[in-house]
Amino acid sequence: MTLNELASYTAQQFAKNYGRAPRWIVAAPGRVNVIGEHTDYNDGFVLPTAIERYTVMAADLSADGKEVVYIRDTSGAEPAFIDCSVPVKPGPPKWSNYVRGVIAALLERGIKSGGLDVLLHSNLPIGGGLSSSAALETCTATLLETVTGKQIDPLEKALLCQQAEHEFAGVPCGIMDQFISILGRENHLLLLDCRSHQTEFVPMMDPSVTLLIINTNVKRRLDAGEYAKRRRQCEIAAKILGVPSLRDANAEQLEDAKSKISGVTFRRARHVIGEIERTLLAAEGIRALNWPTVGNLMYASHASLRDDYEVSCTELDAVVEAAEAIGVKGGVYGCRMTGGGFGGCAVALIKTDQAETIAKSIAAAYKTKTGLDATIFASRPAAGVTVIKGSRLIAQAGSHPPGGFNPRMIGRNSLAFAGDFFQRNRFRALATRGHHHAEHVFLNQITARAAKPRGQQTVRGRRRAAALYVAEDGHT
Ligand code: GLA
Repeated sequence: MTLNELASYTAQQFAKNYGRAPRWIVAAPGRVNVIGEHTDYNDGFVLPTAIERYTVMAADLSADGKEVVYIRDTSGAEPAFIDCSVPVKPGPPKWSNYVRGVIAALLERGIKSGGLDVLLHSNLPIGGGLSSSAALETCTATLLETVTGKQIDPLEKALLCQQAEHEFAGVPCGIMDQFISILGRENHLLLLDCRSHQTEFVPMMDPSVTLLIINTNVKRRLDAGEYAKRRRQCEIAAKILGVPSLRDANAEQLEDAKSKISGVTFRRARHVIGEIERTLLAAEGIRALNWPTVGNLMYASHASLRDDYEVSCTELDAVVEAAEAIGVKGGVYGCRMTGGGFGGCAVALIKTDQAETIAKSIAAAYKTKTGLDATIFASRPAAGVTVIKGSRLIAQAGSHPPGGFNPRMIGRNSLAFAGDFFQRNRFRALATRGHHHAEHVFLNQITARAAKPRGQQTVRGRRRAAALYVAEDGHT
């Protein structure tokens, strides 16, 4: 199902449940991490991408005027009533805590939506290690931004979503999932420095390669206890090494300190130090279109997660072994577990034209080894959270009288607004050359139109300018 089909299905379901059309629709993607596992909370690097699987929210102001966010879910999960007239606290049902946490954090910042009727639909496997929870958080935050017209800096948005997960769901996750769900870009991976929060988009345009996502269908047992334990072990290792975090240590330093560190802690640190290096090498490999190198780094990452970090499981190992057995000749460059571990998904880098044969072969080997059915799909790198219907900018562009655009769209106010919009929403956090270029092109186009007196602008010109607003607004 394409994103548009998914959105219109969600709109239909909204109408069925609430008897009217939704005013807003927002879609937030899941993610797959190509490499850089358990490095985010060690101030290291990660290399994830958003995928073409989404959590979608369709919404309208509540019919009864009460300050309650009411959410129905197409999966049949228990609905959530979140009373926003009182301080929002964790509460039932459990899944609603990701939403509650975000609403509470936004309320603290004075962002108050009032009552909403919401319909939630997702084609992301829940608990499959593809960040369904981060998608729920970023979808909620973006919906509330859209409803209130108050936009937050993407970095702040990612951090508040992470805070929601820590405080309301009790999962001490790192920053990767929320970042990529917000910042994902089509045909690009995101190299994120989890210390400085600097980002670099690494293009993955080559149509001859694709990512295959293999769900073991073993529920991700991301035991919060085991995850927190790994975090603590990393902190202990950093302390012994005398560095602020494992990001600042190298393999030699670790080897020198071997006698002072317990065997388990040593192995945890060895994984993190090696994985940070592998992530940077993989980014280089992708830039150079050197797929075999990237693939080998993925296998090395898996072995390290299995043996040193001990977060894999027999099912994930079975998938990686099946992929490795197919090899480059059969179209597989590399494969590894992805996400927190203990179940969930593996990701493989494969030749696009062999995707079907590879999927069949992995599924068969996995079944033989585990008796289980894997769910397998391919995804191109996708865009981050997107307002599909009802964004303020779309509303402005659409509010023109028939036959002509609202001239204010092209005037000085809208120019300042566009600058402010970019400043706040995209370019501050994404200070890369590509982005600056895009910003200039955009602003130049708008400036060119604005420089002409209104009467001299062609309708086509105005339409094009307005269309640009709409197109850009699709990617908050
Ligand atoms: C989970 C967390 C992330 C990250 C990964 C492991 O997905 O939510 O922050 O730590 O595990 O890389």
